[in-house]
Amino acid sequence: MTNLLKIDHIERDWQNAINKCVSVGIYDSLQLNRQLQGVNRKLGRAISHALSANIIKGKIGEITRVVGKKGLVAYVYGMGQKGSMNPESFRVSAASVAKACIKDKITSVTFLIPAEGKDRASSQAAAEGLVLGSYQFNEFKTNRKDITILDSATIVGGDKQSIEKGAIIANSVCFARDLENRPGNIATPSHLAKHAIEIGKSPSMNVTVFEREKFTKMGMGALAGVASGTEEPPKFIIMEYFNGPKNEKPKILVGKGLTFDSGGISIKPANKMDEMKYDMCGSGVVLGAMKAISQLKPKTNVVGIIPSTENMSGDRAYRPGDILTAYNGKTIEVLNTDAEGRLILADALAYASKHYEPEYILDFATLTGAVVVALGHIATGIMGTDSKLISTIKTSSCMTGEKVWEFPLWDEYQEQVKSKIADVKNLGSPGQAGTIAGAAFLKEFVDSDIPWCHFDIAGSAWGDKKLAYQNPGSATGEIVRLVLDMLQL
Ligand code: BES
Ligand code: ZN
Ligand code: ZN
Repeated sequence: MTNLLKIDHIERDWQNAINKCVSVGIYDSLQLNRQLQGVNRKLGRAISHALSANIIKGKIGEITRVVGKKGLVAYVYGMGQKGSMNPESFRVSAASVAKACIKDKITSVTFLIPAEGKDRASSQAAAEGLVLGSYQFNEFKTNRKDITILDSATIVGGDKQSIEKGAIIANSVCFARDLENRPGNIATPSHLAKHAIEIGKSPSMNVTVFEREKFTKMGMGALAGVASGTEEPPKFIIMEYFNGPKNEKPKILVGKGLTFDSGGISIKPANKMDEMKYDMCGSGVVLGAMKAISQLKPKTNVVGIIPSTENMSGDRAYRPGDILTAYNGKTIEVLNTDAEGRLILADALAYASKHYEPEYILDFATLTGAVVVALGHIATGIMGTDSKLISTIKTSSCMTGEKVWEFPLWDEYQEQVKSKIADVKNLGSPGQAGTIAGAAFLKEFVDSDIPWCHFDIAGSAWGDKKLAYQNPGSATGEIVRLVLDMLQL
């Protein structure tokens, strides 16, 4: 993993903290406020010169590099009109600074927070931006001499505790990104289990892993069905974090851990099949969130569940037409072996419903190509059974900038996943509402009295989104921050 690990904080007197690079905000009025005047002096008035040469831009998202005396570099980030910055714009600005440092081969930066960004949310967002913007996935590059790593940062001003929290949260997102970016021959179900067990070593965390034989015997026929096409050992991973009051119901996070999706017998076309290494991004959300929880140690109860396997077409593979029996006893007619995510989640959701008395269940999955058609790489599709839960999710979405969009889950859609010969089928009506059909199927495996919401992250987990704190064509780790916000971390 290469990303900024830790951020130092100082209250003021930043002059001595700077060695090579400082970053400071400017409003679109392009006036030198006190902070800017200080930086200007330090740079031998290079900022005044740049301003008179009309080089500096002040709109939110804009950043200008100014080089002063002794080679000291300032990145001046635009803050728009006074009062218009929000946490997301601090996240974007800080990330742009981190990226600029890496491009210019600078390994250490001091980031000045203006008076306007003193609040907790903005301080946290600035820290998140520095870490997320510094992320690079280069662990398979053997020639490391051209790689610059931003390895030290100091934030001046803002709220110290929120900055520390932001750094922990963003590091957990980077941890999720690493798992997600690793290819299917490395990030196997065993690899996910190993990392879950590692996280499980922290206090109040307990991790259990069921192997193929065990979960098959237990009655998880849907996961066993999908896993039958591969010799790569599948895993059913349970991460329990109980650190809240005994009578507090746990919140349950379920993530699709499909480490490579070839489509199985209903094989996918070769074009872009490599991207199906990302089909475990749902489990990335769970592991990323549990990692942050293990470090922030909130007084609450959370359980993470990850059904994990490949979807391959070995000689024992399940076939179109097969009927599988899930953990809750419901029978499933398999009409397409490529709709496998909903099958492995069915067992996990049924397990969560039976063994815990959850406050709510959230599941995360790269479930349908249809959600990419509907929302592109911009947002996550959500569907659920409880309006209060959905409204909490929408609030956390606004707080974190991780966009969600709700689709309906009306009873009519439930009809579309009924099978003629089994209880349900793993496809909806041909060519219709594919994302909703996925959710309607999943709903069959959640006890009806448990508030539940499904996140289809097939568009948001990776893609070409051009946000400064993400890298196009690489895993985003999206929804980890949203979940942590829901848990009030
Ligand atoms: N993992 C895929 C969904 C996917 C496709 C995610 C493309 C991101 C990009 C999932 O298992 C799948 O193959 N879904 C099928 C469902 C269909 C057979 C009902 C799909 O979306 O085509
Ligand atoms: Zn599939
Ligand atoms: Zn899949």
